[in-house]
Amino acid sequence: MERFSSISMAVVRRLPKYYRYLGELKKNDVKRVSSQELSRITGFTASQIRQDLNCFGGFGQQGYGYNVDDLHQNIGSILGLDKVYKTVIVGAGNLGQAIANYTFFAKSGFIPEALFDINPKLIGLRINDIKVYDVEELESFVRDNDIEIGIICTPKNQCQKVAETLARAGIKAIWNFAPSDITVSDDIIVENVHLSESLFTISYLLKEKEEVLKAKKL
Ligand code: NAI
Repeated sequence: MERFSSISMAVVRRLPKYYRYLGELKKNDVKRVSSQELSRITGFTASQIRQDLNCFGGFGQQGYGYNVDDLHQNIGSILGLDKVYKTVIVGAGNLGQAIANYTFFAKSGFIPEALFDINPKLIGLRINDIKVYDVEELESFVRDNDIEIGIICTPKNQCQKVAETLARAGIKAIWNFAPSDITVSDDIIVENVHLSESLFTISYLLKEKEEVLKAKKL
């Protein structure tokens, strides 16, 4: 993937977490927060947080900490969340429909404009008022409607073909849920999501805990 700044991906991946926790603080009417307090709730060290935020100009004040509203807004705009993105969902099965029904994404500015599928039983339906089109129409729809993000929810043997169609239509980014890596040109941002990796981490930690407890009993 082509990058346009020197900010490391590790920093980029921490920003959404800061944004989420600051949103919670804001909801609870907290007005200011120190990097120590942010450290306690995010699990990152205070110096890590200060270092990350310094990449973008700092925002904190010595002896005061951070203004929650301002920092939340600043990180939101660093993340590009003050913008609206048009998306399409390809594959209108269980997952595609769940994403279409999950209104948080639209509320965060990621607007699903259409779903696409090959199944004639699904084509023409509306999921959360979003129409399911024949995947044959995907390329022209993306091109004609300036869609920026394609969300792939097809079986894994279909995801490369779908990614290529999205690429031909000029998509800027792909959020790929199919459990297979896709190959597209470097200028398209690809984010693969694997819920199973998170679940398998739980499995490892459970196993580790059991083993330690067993060893203690011996
Ligand atoms: P599903 O079988 O319910 O839905 C898949 C849909 O894709 C079907 O409606 C099918 O007709 C459609 N489809 C097939 N070929 C297509 C094509 N060429 N173009 C457009 N649509 C096409 O499957 P489900 O449960 O929704 O899972 C979808 C994908 O997401 C699978 O690859 C699954 O492994 C993956 N998945 C990934 C997760 C993750 O964490 N990354 C979690 C859950 C599912």
